[in-house]
Amino acid sequence: MTDFNTLIEADKGQDARTVQILDVHNFEDWLKDQPDTIREIVKAYKFKANPKSFLILPETGTSKKVDGEQGDFRVVAGVVNHKQLDPWSLAKLGGKLPEGKYRLSGASAKDALFGWLISQHVFDRYKKPTDQQGESILLVKDEIAQLDEAVRQAQATALVRDMVNTPAADMGPDKLEDIVDKLSVKHDAELKVTRGDTLEEHFPMIYGVGKAAMRQHAPRLLELKWGKADHPKIAIIGKGVTFDSGGLSMKSPVGMMLMKKDMGGAAHAIALAKLVMEAKLPVRLHLLVPAVENSVDGHALRPGDILKSRKGLTVEITNTDAEGRLVLGDALTLAGEEEPELILDFATLTGAARVALGPDLPAMFATDDDVAEALHQAGDAEDDPVWRMPLWKRYNSRLNSSIADCINSASGSFAGCMTAALFLQKFVPDNVSWVHFDTYAWHPASKPGRPKGGEALGLRASWRYLKDRYTA
Ligand code: BES
Ligand code: ZN
Ligand code: ZN
Repeated sequence: MTDFNTLIEADKGQDARTVQILDVHNFEDWLKDQPDTIREIVKAYKFKANPKSFLILPETGTSKKVDGEQGDFRVVAGVVNHKQLDPWSLAKLGGKLPEGKYRLSGASAKDALFGWLISQHVFDRYKKPTDQQGESILLVKDEIAQLDEAVRQAQATALVRDMVNTPAADMGPDKLEDIVDKLSVKHDAELKVTRGDTLEEHFPMIYGVGKAAMRQHAPRLLELKWGKADHPKIAIIGKGVTFDSGGLSMKSPVGMMLMKKDMGGAAHAIALAKLVMEAKLPVRLHLLVPAVENSVDGHALRPGDILKSRKGLTVEITNTDAEGRLVLGDALTLAGEEEPELILDFATLTGAARVALGPDLPAMFATDDDVAEALHQAGDAEDDPVWRMPLWKRYNSRLNSSIADCINSASGSFAGCMTAALFLQKFVPDNVSWVHFDTYAWHPASKPGRPKGGEALGLRASWRYLKDRYTA
C-alpha cells in the first residue's frame, strides 16, 4: 500500500516548487501582477482558476523567488474558496504533478491533506499504470498537528478501496479473517472466529447463507474485541459477503458483475475499527464480520426454506439474494447480547438504496434522532455525506409470513431499502441505539482523487462522529 507518511513533510525551508492556490474571486488580482509571458500562457490555456483546473507555468525569471523555492516551474491551482479548502481541493493534483516537493501559497492545506494523500493511491495489484507520476510531497508548517490524522484516514480509505477492488477469488472469507487477524495482533485485541458446526448451531443464518461455499470458501463469523472493559461499549458490524451470486435466486450477469464488492460493508467496518484502535479511542470495541460467499451447490439455501435465527425468530426465505440481512441478523443479535450503547453497521444491502439516492450517498437508518443528526452533520463537515431514511414501522407488515415469524424479502420493489432495514431492526434490542448504513462502496466513474472502483462512503463521517462523541 502507498506509504502516505512519505507524501507530506514538515517545511524546514527545503527546496520546493510553489503551488499557488487561487479561486475565481482573487484570480484577476493575481493575474494583474504576473509578467506578460505568464499572462499569455494563462490566457492561451483559458485558465480561470475554476475549482477543477490547474496549470503548470514556467518560471520567468522576473517573478520574485523566495527562500527554498525551486525555480524551474510553478503550479497554479483553482479551488472553490481559497480561504477554506475542502478534503478534495488538492485531489486533482495528486499523481498528476511531476515528482518532487511542493509548497502551497495562498491557502492553508489543513482540510485538504486527506485529498492530497489519497489521490496518490493507486490499486496496482494486477496492473501497473503506465501514466503514474512519482511522489508529490507537500511541505506543511502550521498543519503539522493534522498530519497523523490525515494519514490514518488515507490509510483507512485505501484499505477499503483495495479490499473492495480485489476479486472474490483473492478476497474470500479466509482473506477477511487474515486482515482482521493482523489487525488484532497489531492492536493487542482478542479475535474469535466461529465456523463449522459451531457456526451452524449458534449462527444459523450466517451458516445458511454460506454453506453452499463450504468446500472452497467456508463461512465464518469474525469477532474482534478491544479496549478496556469499563469503557463504553460500541459494536461495529460489516456485511462480509465476499461474492453475491444471488444463490439459487440467481442474479443476472449484469447484476452479478460487481458483486465482488459485496464485502464492502465489512471493509468499512474493519477500517473504522482500525481508526478507533489507532487513535486509542476510550471505548470497548466489538467488531463483527459475518464472512460468507453466497454461492450455489447441492447444499445451497433454497427459496421456501425456513431458518431459525440466533434470536429464535423463524425466517422464511423468499429470495436467497436477500442474503445480507440474514447474515447481519445473527451478527446484530450477538452484538445486542453484550448491551452496547451503540451499534453501527455497514452493508451493501440493497439495490433499492441506490435507486433512491444514487451511488454517492449512503442511506442511513437510525433509531436515535440525535445520533442521526450528529452523523449527518459529521458527514457534511467531512464532505462524506450520508442521508437519513425512515424506519417506517407500518411497512413491517410487508415482511409477514403465513408459516414463519417473517420472510426475508418483501414482494415487489417498493421501499426495498426500508424493508431491508426493518428486517435488520427485528434483531436489534429495543433499548440499544442502532445505526445502519446501506452504502454502495463503489464509484461508477472517476472523479479527482476518486478513481472508478471501490470506495469508502460514510467512513469518515462515522469516524468523525465517534471521535467527537468519545474523545475526552
Ligand atoms: N448485494 C445485494 C445488494 C446490491 C445490489 C447492492 C446491487 C448494490 C448493488 C443484495 O444482497 C441483494 O441482492 N439485494 C437484493 C434484495 C432483493 C432480493 C430483495 C436487491 O437489492 O435487489
Ligand atoms: Zn444478494
Ligand atoms: Zn448481497
